[in-house]
Amino acid sequence: MIQRVHLIAAARPNFMKVAPLWHALAAAPDFQPVLIHTGQHYDPNMSDAIFADLRLPKPDHHLGVGSGSHAEQTGGVMIAYEKIALEDRPDWLVVVGDVNSTAACAMVAAKLHFPVVHLEAGLRSRDRRMPEEINRLVTDAISDVLWTPSPDADENLIAEGVPDERIARVGNIMLDSFELVRPAIEAANVAGELELAQGGYGVVTLHRPSNVDEPAQLERLVVALLQVQKRLPLVFPVHPRTAQRLAACGLDAKLRTAGVRLIEPQPYVRFMSLVTGAAAAITDSGGIQEETTYLGIPCLTLRENTERPITISQGTNRLVRPQTLACELEAALAAPKHERRRPDLWDGRTAARCLADLRARSGAGALITRAA
Ligand code: UD1
Repeated sequence: MIQRVHLIAAARPNFMKVAPLWHALAAAPDFQPVLIHTGQHYDPNMSDAIFADLRLPKPDHHLGVGSGSHAEQTGGVMIAYEKIALEDRPDWLVVVGDVNSTAACAMVAAKLHFPVVHLEAGLRSRDRRMPEEINRLVTDAISDVLWTPSPDADENLIAEGVPDERIARVGNIMLDSFELVRPAIEAANVAGELELAQGGYGVVTLHRPSNVDEPAQLERLVVALLQVQKRLPLVFPVHPRTAQRLAACGLDAKLRTAGVRLIEPQPYVRFMSLVTGAAAAITDSGGIQEETTYLGIPCLTLRENTERPITISQGTNRLVRPQTLACELEAALAAPKHERRRPDLWDGRTAARCLADLRARSGAGALITRAA
């Protein structure tokens, strides 16, 4: 019997996690992926262009939820997805990452008794002021199957009382996307277009509410970037949230005047072309901490904590404050390359492991039953 798998794609960081699994399911004779875009991100560069880069088809369903407060966005996704889940009755729902749509769809399916799988389960920043941490806790608490990227994630789930048989370590699926389109990334020369020397610039991304919503913190970050720009030219693809905040404080002009290249958010291939050619990344993103670890590129993370500690213990990541950015960057650039290691199962073959796990759980008698 063919198993219908709902895959939820909502916001930019989801698409690199969904694409490899969609391709693996579409190629399997015993599964049928149904791609559902909630519309949480809708700008072409934040959505359609990334779909095209990752060779994803047009979604089977588009919920068109858009922006709003957390309650509006979460509630809007729940109302819209419930209709589709009831009509389509999936054999499985797979949600990825930690955005509002992840928790929203997981709640809908769990209450309708459709089995829920969380891909990228078990990550914890232990900072409940982050909306993503709430989404991670909610989603993991109600998912039937928890696909984790690293041993720390398994340990977090076990400490929370999740039974072993629900946890499967599959590795880091984002890196499957990188390998899927590696030739296109290597062929794109976005740094060259911007007249930046290969290996001679830093790439910046910032969008966390804790960094960009409060003008004083945003200003501290801009001051730190201006200091770095004197040493290393910076290119900064600006997230819409950050663009609004920088413009409101007049800080975009300061960055431009100092020579920081402020550009639109980039589609996946162009963005990864910039990262692969960079001397370092300066970011508050989750995914970039992982991608730079995989690529062996120093990453300076402007956060107090990370839900991805393996990128520090085994990878190239460092947590920094605006005040320590410039000096930590110097140290990172001077660090010897041979210290870098790729975490186990971060190998571009995670989607195949997800498929094998789903198949094992769908097999005769093995179909999971919801928690008694
Ligand atoms: C969301 C996710 C975050 C993820 C990030 C990646 C949640 C709680 N947050 O945060 O985990 O790391 O996406 O980008 O789910 N906007 C546009 N165009 C778009 C999308 C958003 O202009 O395509 C604007 C919105 O109007 C809003 C702002 O950007 O003003 C923030 O967008 P939103 O999706 O609410 O949150 P993110 O900060 O993107």
